[in-house]
Amino acid sequence: MIDYNAEDRTFDCPPSLNDEQVVDFCRDGYLLLRGIVPDETNRRTLDWLNGERPAEPVAIPPGMTADDLQRIRDSHEPSSIFLEEWFLRDVLLNEQLVGVMRSLLGRSVQLPVLASHHGTQCPQPAQGWHHDADRVFGPELNFVEVFYFPQDTPIELGPTELVPGTHMRHTPRRAEEGGLFSDGPAGTLGIHHQSILHRRGASTASGMRHMLKYNYWRTKPPQRDWIHQCEFDERTAHFGGHEQARYAAHMYYWLCGRGDAFRTHGGQAWPWRSANQIGPSPGFAPSAGYRPDWSGSRPDGYAP
Ligand SMILES: [Fe+2]
Repeated sequence: MIDYNAEDRTFDCPPSLNDEQVVDFCRDGYLLLRGIVPDETNRRTLDWLNGERPAEPVAIPPGMTADDLQRIRDSHEPSSIFLEEWFLRDVLLNEQLVGVMRSLLGRSVQLPVLASHHGTQCPQPAQGWHHDADRVFGPELNFVEVFYFPQDTPIELGPTELVPGTHMRHTPRRAEEGGLFSDGPAGTLGIHHQSILHRRGASTASGMRHMLKYNYWRTKPPQRDWIHQCEFDERTAHFGGHEQARYAAHMYYWLCGRGDAFRTHGGQAWPWRSANQIGPSPGFAPSAGYRPDWSGSRPDGYAP
């Protein structure tokens, strides 16, 4: 079912997310797929990262040499692991993961080119809460980030901790406030918006925690080509609460290829809603109104 093009390192496959799940990602900014990479591949990954397994790249990229690949392997960005056949098959092109990427990034998704290796000798205190460098707050979803944990990563081993819904704008948070843990058995893949607020969680257990981080890329303009649900209704979809719904709905519109058309009246108007309403929010999809301000520069959060 996966159509992989080795020449440009893109793939296509059927989408696996439906309308509501795409809205969930726009609103929450993350998805967690626990324990989906086969154990044998997790073991190979750990051996490879520990230097206990020889490199066997399927090909040497044009313009590079075997020495280049060795230098890359020895760095904190060991991207040459992407050239191992078993890693490509079971991790990058993991059957469950690719359907999600295809849903969020359209056809011909480009595979990652850069791996970031976060190896931590535990125990360790928690990292400070942060948005990663070079993040963009905006309705566009041109790439999606993945965290791969090749060993069992219970909360005691300090999995990444993140705060759902914080990919929309700069979000201060005190160290003592917790988040949601990406814990799981070996082979857990955390998928999230690169702008989301996160940190390495505090660890109390002993041992090495490995994590690889990398991005999948859009190559086609967005359109609503994931799984359609006949019962799905944009008018009543759950885009989130105050200071959140307008951003998630704008992102959803962008993914549908209608980003420029998004407007809202604000206040209790669509896309905000409450479970206690006696009818849908007024002001559905107005032709005139306000756009969300993604820059964070306007105190009301609206651009004219
Ligand atoms: Fe980070």
